[in-house]
Amino acid sequence: MAYHLLKGKKGIIFGALNNLSIAWKVAEKAYEEGAEFTLSNAPVALRFGETEKLAETCKTIVIPADVSRLGDIEHVFEKTLEHFDGKIDFVLHSIGMSMNVRKKKLYSDLDYNYFRQTLDVSALSLHKMLQTAYKMDAINQWGSVVALSYVAAQRTLYGYNDMADAKALLESIARSFGYIYGRERNVRVNTVSQSPTRTTAGRGVKGIDSLFDFTERMSPLGNATAEECANYCITLFSDLTRKVTMQNLFHDGGFSSMGMSLRAMTQYDKSFKGCD
Ligand SMILES: NC(=O)c1ccc[n+]([C@@H]2O[C@H](COP(=O)([O-])OP(=O)(O)OC[C@H]3O[C@@H](n4cnc5c(N)ncnc54)[C@H](O)[C@@H]3O)[C@@H](O)[C@H]2O)c1
Repeated sequence: MAYHLLKGKKGIIFGALNNLSIAWKVAEKAYEEGAEFTLSNAPVALRFGETEKLAETCKTIVIPADVSRLGDIEHVFEKTLEHFDGKIDFVLHSIGMSMNVRKKKLYSDLDYNYFRQTLDVSALSLHKMLQTAYKMDAINQWGSVVALSYVAAQRTLYGYNDMADAKALLESIARSFGYIYGRERNVRVNTVSQSPTRTTAGRGVKGIDSLFDFTERMSPLGNATAEECANYCITLFSDLTRKVTMQNLFHDGGFSSMGMSLRAMTQYDKSFKGCD
């Protein structure tokens, strides 16, 4: 059911690769809710992914950008403002990539060139987007920028590797820039810390299936799906959340507030059955 929450709003959605992507679900919901937006993804992702298909459904254009390149990000904002003949209201940063994770490097044996790339693509890119938008004055008053994060930014979770550091930086950038953008232009900046989700990036995380089961058992409301995450993002782009800024907002079924649950304890106890 659509509520027309984004009627008349315009934006940019970064990171829709295929129909599993969180950004893909956000784009579908934003379209349903009456928004117009451009889509962006890395040139290589556009070759192998399905972003063009999404663009057809949402009647929009795709602007390629490798977000480690400032010039590419500037190009996306320029093209988008040109496309809409005016400013925008929202930006979704839904981007994460770690070559250390891909190459199965341990956190105690990181490749530092990969580490720099992780930070650049997964975190500094948010700063680059915010700085570009700020300098171009691309976002209307009461606009909203949302970036996706994960609880490993704040607590250690086995296997998340250097992405944990990238997410910690991402959340810090949202607060630091959120202060300036809020003070000067009434633009909000938040991160949404989402449950483990079965997407292309999610599947790369070591032990994702066990983690998914664990967080499902630990969360009183269960893991949040990509669709549910999209619904939450839509509220953050809407006028109903105008005074929410500089926050890391957990969207995880309650996981981040739990220590041990009955369902997890029951499973844990089972693992001792038959042991001395
Ligand atoms: N899947 C999960 O379990 C989970 C949980 C919490 C947060 N997140 C976060 O959600 C966001 C979206 O990930 P997802 O799970 O939808 O996976 P996904 O693989 O569908 O999306 C990741 C996107 O990042 C893009 N990307 C990678 N390198 C890029 C570059 N150099 N330039 C431009 N784009 C680039 C990819 O092309 C892809 O579209 C990420 O920030 C991820 O860390 C995911």
